[in-house]
Order: sequence, then structure tokens, then C-alpha cells
Amino acid sequence: MKDILIIGSGAAGLSLALELADHAKVTILSKNTLDCCNTKYAQGGISAVLGADDSLDSHVEDTIIAGAGLCNKETVEFIVSQGPERIAWLIEQGMPFTQVSDKKGNIDYHLTREGGHSHRRVIHAADATGKAIISTLTAKVKAHPNIQILEYHIIIDLITGTKIGLSTSRCLGAYVLDLPNNEIKALQANFVVLATGGAGKAYLYTSNPDIATGDGIAMAWRAGCRVENMEFIQFHPTCLYHPKAKSFLISEAVRGEGGKLLLPDGNPFMQNFDSRGELAPRDIVARAIDHEMKRLGCDYVLLDISHKSERFIVEHFPNIYHRCMSLGYDMVNQPIPVVPAAHYTCGGVVTNKQGHTDVEGLYAIGEVASTGLHGANRMASNSLLECLVLAHTASVDILAKLNTVSPSQPSKLPSWDESRVTNSDEEVVVSHNWDELRRFMWDYVGIVRTSKRLQRAKSRVDLLQNEIYEYYSHFRVSNDLIELRNLTLVADLIIRSAQQRHESRGLHYNLDYPSKKPVAQNTILTP
Ligand code: FAD
Ligand code: SIN
Repeated sequence: MKDILIIGSGAAGLSLALELADHAKVTILSKNTLDCCNTKYAQGGISAVLGADDSLDSHVEDTIIAGAGLCNKETVEFIVSQGPERIAWLIEQGMPFTQVSDKKGNIDYHLTREGGHSHRRVIHAADATGKAIISTLTAKVKAHPNIQILEYHIIIDLITGTKIGLSTSRCLGAYVLDLPNNEIKALQANFVVLATGGAGKAYLYTSNPDIATGDGIAMAWRAGCRVENMEFIQFHPTCLYHPKAKSFLISEAVRGEGGKLLLPDGNPFMQNFDSRGELAPRDIVARAIDHEMKRLGCDYVLLDISHKSERFIVEHFPNIYHRCMSLGYDMVNQPIPVVPAAHYTCGGVVTNKQGHTDVEGLYAIGEVASTGLHGANRMASNSLLECLVLAHTASVDILAKLNTVSPSQPSKLPSWDESRVTNSDEEVVVSHNWDELRRFMWDYVGIVRTSKRLQRAKSRVDLLQNEIYEYYSHFRVSNDLIELRNLTLVADLIIRSAQQRHESRGLHYNLDYPSKKPVAQNTILTP
């Protein structure tokens, strides 16, 4: 029996583990290595009110404007108010945020700007903030005697009392495939936390690494949790365009520090779409780029920061500069080609401010969850903030319960039943369906949608789900099959949510319903 099982080792999972570990036994699990997560790729930074000219009210207001009227104001106020304290906690863990000295020689943290923010409030470690978070927290987690780390362990499904025929509906643990040993185990725990990240891999082009297959959302749904606002998939406006390289993000901070978007002929265009220009919220910038690319039939637009000095560019964006150079693009001397790509899952498992889901004993924190912070469009750098704040509130809640609640637990969980499955003889089904799913999601459920495209996507996802169900019932599970099953379910939730929204708001733009309804409503799906 474990005290607490944390599924996921990104910013949310690692911070939670550290906040709990002095008082409880924690197991943290990653389906790959500990550092393989979206967090590691975060560039811009973490938003928090730290500047003398900034205010909590301003951060709240900007978040709500970016969220296109759908944010939960109380949640926004709460999360924003916790920002400075959580940043202080991260600094205590050893986080090396970038510092600058002013003319008098006073040293302070550098704050950058990103879309939607009316002030400089994004604290960062150059342009590789996520990498620094992961290495800082991983070192702490590895050194803590109360934390057990299980890498290359992929959770297949959650175990609830209901699923195994008990009178309680509580979450009791999870079935996990130990990949190196190809063995399935039942892990029992008093509390289970999903910190499994988002589902960018549902789309052909994404800034996300391969782990982002929406596993936590799918598992929570199967366990009986509601999900909300799944139609709001955020497309980051600027990923590097290269016909051969995997999508690589060009941080919004490049535009925050003066980068301009240009058409292939060198003309700027953002002012034609929004008076905030390059620093309008992401949904607006991504749609403007998509519009211009379709209008002109071009493969990319340009991002130009070459008016800044070489020293400035290399100092502020070393990671981006070197990556571009390695692909033959010299951002110091020329504009670079960029395109939008799927980036962030704004909706997710419905939770409150402590990370409670609809299933007792099960929490969800980080990108997997929907707390109400992001509404119809997440403002830049609010995600890492949410990871840190929810890890903290969930830890306080779990620790309080750990000492007072003694949940009834069976002496042993049933083993995984493999009596009716054999080894697959047709792996091609998995690889084919994987490709098909990501392509039709890109073509039919992308930046601009229509009711007909959504219907096309729905027919295809229904076929895939039937085929995968059939396959899953007959063959032994593998990493790819587990992920495909989850991703297909998440795609279905995205499409169904998009079909229910008869308006255009934030990241959901449907040509058949181009205007916004007077009253904003969440799309809530119930299993
Ligand atoms: P992740 O960091 O994605 O971690 C998920 C973990 O869950 C992984 O360890 C994975 O192995 C594990 N997992 C998943 N499924 C299973 C399973 N079935 N079994 C076992 N383990 C599982 N946000 C900002 O606020 N600021 C930024 O500057 C920023 N830049 C970004 C740049 C890029 C390129 C990307 C992709 C995202 C960026 N974001 C940024 C968004 C932000 O990084 C993520 O939303 C955030 O890191 C999510 O953290 P998380 O802990 O919820 O999940
Ligand atoms: C970026 O650096 O542009 C990403 C920031 C984010 O996704 O919040």
C-alpha cells in the first residue's frame, strides 16, 4: 500500500511530490524518463506579479480578457494571488531564474513580456525555463528518502471500487505496465494524483513531445469524472517551419521583446487583425497567421527580430538561436519561417482549487485538469503558474486528509486479467490509426472549424474507436496501444465538445457560428 501515487513527473507532479514528501510516502511515476514531459520544453517562463509597476488586479484582468469571457473569476483571483509565493518556493528549491542588474548595479530578476500581458511579469531562465525547472526539482526528488521513482511505467487505467465490484466508488490505485519487464501490476494507494499533462499529440503538428497523449483525461473519464471545455485546444502561433525537423517552438517572448510577424513579401500584417499587434492573445495571432497562409497559399509566415543586436538575441534566446542555426536559419541576420501548431489543452478533468475530481481519492493537477483559470484561451505562461499553485493546494488538502481519513481499502486489488488476450499479429492497425487520427484532427478540428468538418471528424473517430476497442479486447497491451486508445478517446471528447458549442469564442472558431453568444458557458461532458 502506498500513501500517495503521483502519475506524471512534470512541473505539477514533481512539485507535489516535494511538497508532500516530508510528511508522507510518495511514489512518482513517468511513462518515460523522469524528464520526458511538456514542462521540460517550456521556454517563455512563469507569470506572476513581481514587478513594482504591476498588480494582481492587472494579472487577473489580462487573464480574463485572454480567456474570452469563460474564465472562472474566483479561480483566476486565487491562482494569481498565489503566484509570488510559489515563485519564492521555486527559488528556495534552487531555480536559477535569469537576473539583470540596473544602472546602479542593483540585481533583480528579469521579467519578460508575452501575448495578452499588459505588464512585464514573466519570470524565466533565459529561453529554457522548463529545462531548469525539471533539473532543479528532479535533483531534489531524487535526493528525498520518502520518494520512490518509477520510470518507464505507464498507467493503463485507474482502479475504482465501482470497477472491481465494491460498494465504494473511491479510487483505490491503478494498473501499470512496467515497460522494461513487460509486466502489469496493480498499485494500491490511499490517494492517486493525475499530473499527466495534455494531449497535443492528437494533432499532426504540435509543439508537444511524444508523451502528450491525454492519458490522464481518458483514464479519469473512464473512471467516471466529468471533463470540460475540451474544444479549446490552443495553437501556438509560432513554431519553426522546417520541412524535415519536428516542430520546435519559437517563444512568444521573441515577440514580447520586439519580434515582428511578416508576410513572405516582408510586409507586417498583425495590425490589420488586432490593435495589440504581435502581442494580442494567442488565439487571435494564430488565426491571423492561418488566415494569411490560406489567403496567400504559402507554407509559413516570417518572424523577424533581426533589428535587435546579436548580443541581445544570443543572451535572451540562446536555446532558440542555436536550434535555428543548426537548421540553417540565422535569426540575428534574417527573419525565420514560422507556422502555428497544437500547443496546449485548455480544458480537461473538472477540478476545484484543491485538485479534487468527481471521484473520491482522485486528484488532477496541471495541464490535465480544468480549474477554470484558462477559460476559452490560456494566457501565455499561466500554465506553469497553475501547476505550482495546484500542486501546493492539493498537497495541503492531501496531508490534512492523510491524518484524519482512513479510507476503507480492500486487502488486495485484483490482478490484471490477461486470460482472454494474445500477442498482437497486426501492429500495423496501431500505427495506421495513429497517423489517421492525427491527420484528420489537424484537417477538420484545427484552428478554423466548420460544422461539416466536425461531422466528418466525428464519423472517423467513431470508426477508430470501434476498431481500437476490438483490438484492445483481443491483444496484449503495449505502450503504443495504451496511448492510441487514450488519444482516440480524447479526440472524441474534443470533437463532441466542439460540436456542442454553437458560437465562436476564444480558441474555438466555427465558420458556421462566427459570433460570440452573449452569455459564456462551459461545455461539460459527463461519462
Ligand atoms: P507534463 O510536464 O506534460 O508532464 C506529464 C507527465 O505525465 C510526464 O512525466 C509523463 O511521462 C507522465 N504521464 C503521462 N501519461 C502517463 C501514463 N499513462 N503513465 C505514466 N506517466 C504518464 N507554459 C508556461 O506556463 N510557460 C511556458 O513558457 C511554456 N512554454 C511551453 C513550451 C512548449 C514547447 C510546450 C510544449 C509547452 C509550454 N508551456 C508553457 C505549457 C507547459 O509547459 C505545460 O502545460 C506544463 O509544463 C504541463 O505540466 P504538467 O506537469 O501538467 O505535465
Ligand atoms: C512560449 O514561450 O511562447 C510558450 C509560453 C506558454 O506556452 O505559456
